Amino acid sequence: MRILITGGAGYIGSHVCNLLLDKGFKVTVIDNLVTGNKELVPKKAKLIIADIADEKKIEYVITNEKFDLVMHFAGLIRVDESVKEPEKYNEFNFEKAKKFLNICFKNKLFKIIFSSTASVYGNSKKQKVLETDPLDPLNPYAISKLKLENFIISKSKELKISYIILRYFNVAGADERLRSGLISKFSSHLIKRACEVAVGKREKLIINGNDYNTLDGTPVRDYIHITDLADIHYISAKHLMENGKSEIFNCGYGKGYSVKEVLESFSKVLGKKINFEIGPRRDGDSEMVVANSDKFNKFFNWKPKFNDIKFILKTAIDWEKKIK
Ligand SMILES: NC(=O)c1ccc[n+]([C@@H]2O[C@H](COP(=O)([O-])OP(=O)(O)OC[C@H]3O[C@@H](n4cnc5c(N)ncnc54)[C@H](O)[C@@H]3O)[C@@H](O)[C@H]2O)c1
Repeated sequence: MRILITGGAGYIGSHVCNLLLDKGFKVTVIDNLVTGNKELVPKKAKLIIADIADEKKIEYVITNEKFDLVMHFAGLIRVDESVKEPEKYNEFNFEKAKKFLNICFKNKLFKIIFSSTASVYGNSKKQKVLETDPLDPLNPYAISKLKLENFIISKSKELKISYIILRYFNVAGADERLRSGLISKFSSHLIKRACEVAVGKREKLIINGNDYNTLDGTPVRDYIHITDLADIHYISAKHLMENGKSEIFNCGYGKGYSVKEVLESFSKVLGKKINFEIGPRRDGDSEMVVANSDKFNKFFNWKPKFNDIKFILKTAIDWEKKIK
């Protein structure tokens, strides 16, 4: 089986590449390296450095290799940046992606797995959000992702497309064997920033707001280990290859941790306290986003292997030390 992966030089795409190669798939990566790093692409994968909207190159790649399925990870992911530059996010995450997918569809590459986000739910009133709950994207990043979800769904009504839309909650940690991890120096992820403080790359961590309506005032998120998320992609790919039908799935563990709770666990893993300061809220942040992840787990009779915040934090810090 041959899989085309956009954004495979990024954090999540590179982990998925490793797993698919471990399982014996052939993998081709398209990445323009805007935030990715070619060191993260496994040697056994073929890397094509190109923008997903470079029609000539993409058409060439797709017509030359016969892919069974495409996984679309490429995109920009910073909520704060998207608030400042909404047009850029619409362009990268929606317009370019649409161009890319239209080339796939024109060449009968009809099976697609798309990396969406829990931020399409906005500030849900529910403790745990279901896939069928109302969508209310609060920032241009989330809007751009929801637009692409809708594009894929509407195209699937005219063409023989089958898709799995995966709404990731907060992805964290690193491959246990440390083949990949989060490299970006500009990441706004809490755990990444805490790791940078722990290894001395950053002086202190800023907690963005402690006046939310949560138990300790800091926002609550559902953290999923990257290796479990990679496994979800592998299972979704098999489902589509076996002509399974289109679905949307939440990808989380169904347990929320506040920022302060994450930092407390981190201090335990590290054996020392993390230097932090309370700062203002960030534009576009939700108060609490926790998955109801029953749908995927029941559908595939699947159980996560790494549902343990300390393990997530341990692999994240091990990776940060490796790339120090
Ligand atoms: N990290 C998370 O917690 C999280 C949560 C929800 C959703 N997601 C989604 O998962 C996907 C991957 O996220 P990530 O954390 O691995 O981010 P990342 O920045 O590490 O990876 C994105 C990759 O896409 C590439 N890319 C971006 N625009 C491109 C373009 N126009 N052409 C070719 N390549 C391009 C980048 O160079 C990079 O390698 C994104 O679509 C993101 O929206 C991530």
